[in-house]
Amino acid sequence: LYSAGILGTGYYVPEKIMTNADLEKIVDTSDEWIVERTGIKERRIAEDGVPMSDLAMKAAESALADAGTAAEELDLIIVATLTSDRIIPSTACMLQNRLGAKHAAAFDLSAACSGFAYAASVAAQFIETGVYKKALVIGAETLSKYINWEDRNTCVLFGDGAGAAVLGQVEDGYGILSFDLGSDGSGGDAIQIPSSGSLMPVSKESIDQRLNLIHMNGKEVFKFAVKAMGRTVKNSLEKIGMPQEKIDWLVPHQANIRIIESAAKRLSMPMDKVIVNIQKYGNMSAACIPIALAEASAAKRFKKGDIIALSGFGAGLTWASCIIRW
Ligand code: ACO
Repeated sequence: LYSAGILGTGYYVPEKIMTNADLEKIVDTSDEWIVERTGIKERRIAEDGVPMSDLAMKAAESALADAGTAAEELDLIIVATLTSDRIIPSTACMLQNRLGAKHAAAFDLSAACSGFAYAASVAAQFIETGVYKKALVIGAETLSKYINWEDRNTCVLFGDGAGAAVLGQVEDGYGILSFDLGSDGSGGDAIQIPSSGSLMPVSKESIDQRLNLIHMNGKEVFKFAVKAMGRTVKNSLEKIGMPQEKIDWLVPHQANIRIIESAAKRLSMPMDKVIVNIQKYGNMSAACIPIALAEASAAKRFKKGDIIALSGFGAGLTWASCIIRW
C-alpha cells in the first residue's frame, strides 16, 4: 500500500460579508445572542447568480497551484456538497470540464457537513492501492440559497464558501493515517430540506410553505454533535493505537463555537490547538474543514510531521474524522 496525503490546499470565499448587524435588520435577533450562542460574527454570501461551482472552481485552482499539480494529472475529482448547482450533471463533472481534467473520474458526494472528511477518505483508498495517483477533493457550498431568511433559528448560522485539497502519494508514514466514517439515518429529520427531491418535488405549494429551504432541530443536532465530534476522533485514533495526546491540531467542523469547545474538551485539547474560523464564516457545511485547513496551511501553522485530526458531523446524520501526519 502507498501512503495517501495532502499535496496542496486552497480556498475561496465570496467577497460579500453579512454581519450580525445586517441580520438584526432582517429578523428579531441580536449580535449579542448570535455571538454568545454560536460564536459567529459574520458570514460570506455568494451574489445572486453566482453558483456553487464558481466558488468550487476558484478553490480548486488555488489547491492545484499550491500542490504544483496540473489538472491533466488528476485521476479523480470528488465534490462534497449539499448545494450542487443541479441534481444532474454533478458539479464534479462541471469542474472536470472547466479545469480541463481530461483523465479524471468525477462525482459529487452527499454527506453534508461531514462531506470533506468522507470524500478525502474515499479518495485516499484509490491512492493507497495505487489505482489513482492524484485526486482533487472539494467541499463547497452556497447554503445562502437554501436559507429561510425569515427563520432566526437557522438564518444566522450559515454561510457560503469552498475549500479544496489535492491528494496524492506521500512519503511512507505521512498523510492520512486513519479515518472513521459513520451514519445514523434515524436522525435524518433533524436537518433536512423537505422539498428537494422525489419524495416531495419542489412545487408552488412547497415553496409557499418554505419547505424547499433548510429545516433544523437545533437542540437535537447540538446534543448529537457534542458527542459525535470527539467520539469519531477517538475511533480513528484507536484504529492505529495512537494516544490522543499525540494530536497537535484539531480541525473541526465549524457549526457552533460551543460544540467545538466541547469536542476539544473531550479530547483534552487546549483551544490554541484548535483551528477556528467560525467567527468570520459561520457554518459552510462541507466547506468548513477544507477552508480551515487551507487557511492554517497558508498561515504556516502546521509543521512537517504534525498530527492533525479532522472532525465533522452533519445531516444524515453523519460523522467523519481523519488523522493526518502533515
Ligand atoms: N436570535 C435570537 N433568539 C434566538 C435566535 C436568534 N437568532 N435563534 C433562536 N432564538 C431563541 C429561541 O427561539 C429560543 O427562544 P425561546 O426559549 O423563547 O423559545 C431561545 O433563543 C433559545 O433557543 P435554543 O434553541 O435553546 O438555543 P440554543 O442554545 O440551543 O442555540 C443553536 C441554538 C445555535 C441553533 C444551537 O442549538 C446549535 O448550534 N445547534 C446545532 C446546529 C448545527 O450544528 N447545525 C449543523 C447543521 S449541519 C449540516 O449538515 C448543514
